[in-house]
Amino acid sequence: MPLVGVHGVSKVFDNGVRALSGISLDVAAGEFLSILGPSGCGKSTLLRLVAGLASPSEGTIDRESGDIGFVFQEPTLMPWASALANVALPLKLRGMARSEREARATAALDSVGLKGFERAFPRELSGGMKMRVSLARALVVEPRLLLMDEPFAALDEITRHRLNRDLLGLWQRSGVTVMFVTHSVFESVFLSQRIVVMAARPGRVSADFRVTEPYPRGEDFRTSATYAEWCRQASQRLEQAMAA
Ligand SMILES: Nc1ncnc2c1ncn2[C@@H]1O[C@H](COP(=O)(O)OP(=O)(O)O)[C@@H](O)[C@H]1O
Ligand SMILES: [Mg+2]
Repeated sequence: MPLVGVHGVSKVFDNGVRALSGISLDVAAGEFLSILGPSGCGKSTLLRLVAGLASPSEGTIDRESGDIGFVFQEPTLMPWASALANVALPLKLRGMARSEREARATAALDSVGLKGFERAFPRELSGGMKMRVSLARALVVEPRLLLMDEPFAALDEITRHRLNRDLLGLWQRSGVTVMFVTHSVFESVFLSQRIVVMAARPGRVSADFRVTEPYPRGEDFRTSATYAEWCRQASQRLEQAMAA
C-alpha cells in the first residue's frame, strides 16, 4: 500500500499554463524519492498538489492521513523568534503545552545537529544552520511524509554535502518517507533510492528508475566510480527528458 498515489494528474492554472500533464506515481512508505527536472517542469506544483496546498485539474491524489513536513528553498524563519520558538511553532499552533513543545523542539534541534543553539536568532545563524532549523521545524511534528523543494540549492557545496549526509541519517533513523525535489543530478543520485525524471511543457514523467546502492552512503560513495556511473546514467535520462 503506497503512502502517496498520484493518478493521472494534470494541472492547468487559471492563466492557461498547463504545468502538469498525466502524472502517475506511487510512493512507498519509507521510500526516499527524488524528483529531478529542469526549472519550470512543474516540480514545485507537483509537491504542492501532494501536500494538498492546491488541487489537480484532472486526476486524483491519494495520501495516507497524517502529518506532512514541508521544507522550502528559503528557510522561512520568523526573524524575531529564537531557533527554539521557530521549531516549536507548529506545535504551538496545535495547542501543545509550552513545556512539552519546548522539549520536543529541543530534541528536534538536537537531531539536526543544533544542540546548544536553542536561543540563537536566525540572524546569528549561517545559511546552512538556518536550513537545519527549517528541517527541525518540519520534523518536529513527526511527519510520515517529508516534502522538500530544492532545500539546499542556495547553499555552498560543502554545506550542501553535509546536509545531504545528515538528511540521510535522519531519514534512516526516523523511517520518514521523503519526496525531494532537485535539479541536481549529483544530489539526486547521492540521496535517493529512486529518481523520477520530469520533462517540461507540459510537466510529465520522463523516466523512473532505482539507484540500487546500499546505505549508509557517505563520502566514500560520493567519490566512488559507481557514483560517477550512476550520475552519468541520470544525466543521460535528464538530457533525454530535456530533448523530448
Ligand atoms: N500559480 C501559478 N499560476 C500560473 N502559472 C504557474 C503558477 N505556478 C507555477 N506556474 C507555472 O507552471 C510551470 C511549472 O512551475 P513550477 O511548478 O514552479 O516548476 P519547477 O518547480 O519545476 O521550476 C511554470 O511554467 C510556471 O511558470
Ligand atoms: Mg520549483
